[in-house]
Amino acid sequence: MLASQMEKALNDQLNAELASDYLYLSMAAYYESQNLEGFAKWMQLQAQEEFAHAMKIYTYIQTRGGRVRLGALEAPQSEWDSPLAAFSAALEHERMITSRINALVDMANAEKDNATHQFLMWFVAEQVEEEESASRVVERLKLMEDAPGGLFIMDRELGSRVASAPQ
Ligand code: FEO
Repeated sequence: MLASQMEKALNDQLNAELASDYLYLSMAAYYESQNLEGFAKWMQLQAQEEFAHAMKIYTYIQTRGGRVRLGALEAPQSEWDSPLAAFSAALEHERMITSRINALVDMANAEKDNATHQFLMWFVAEQVEEEESASRVVERLKLMEDAPGGLFIMDRELGSRVASAPQ
C-alpha cells in the first residue's frame, strides 16, 4: 500500500509526464511549421515515450493499491525563436524532470518505501538517456548555427529515429 504522500507525489509525476507528452507534441507542431519534418518526427516519438512513462506510473500506482487522479494540463508553449531554442527548451525540461525524479527517490528513501525506490530506478536511468539525447542535438545545432545547410542534414538524421520498444 502506498503512503498517501507518496501516492500524491506519484500522481503529480504522472501529470508531469503527460505535460511532457503535450510539450513535445507542441514542439513537433512547431518544427512542422518550419518544414523540418525530421525534427517533427523525433519530437512526435518523444511525445509517445512520455505517454509511455505516464502509463508506467499509472500502472504502478494501481499495482500498489493506490488511486490514480489526473490533474489539469496547461497549454504548452507553441512558438520558439529558432530550432535551437526549441531543442534547448527540451533539454531544460528534461533537467527539470530529472530533479523531480531525484526528489521522488529522496521521498521513497525517507519513507523506507523500497518498492517505490526500485520502481524509480528505471526513471533515474531513463533520465540519463533523455538528457544525453537532447544535449547531443543541442550541441550539434550550436555548431551549425552559421551553416544552415547542416540543419537539413540533421533533419534527415533525426527523421530516421524509430520508436523504441516498450519496456
Ligand atoms: Fe519522461 Fe523525458 O522524461
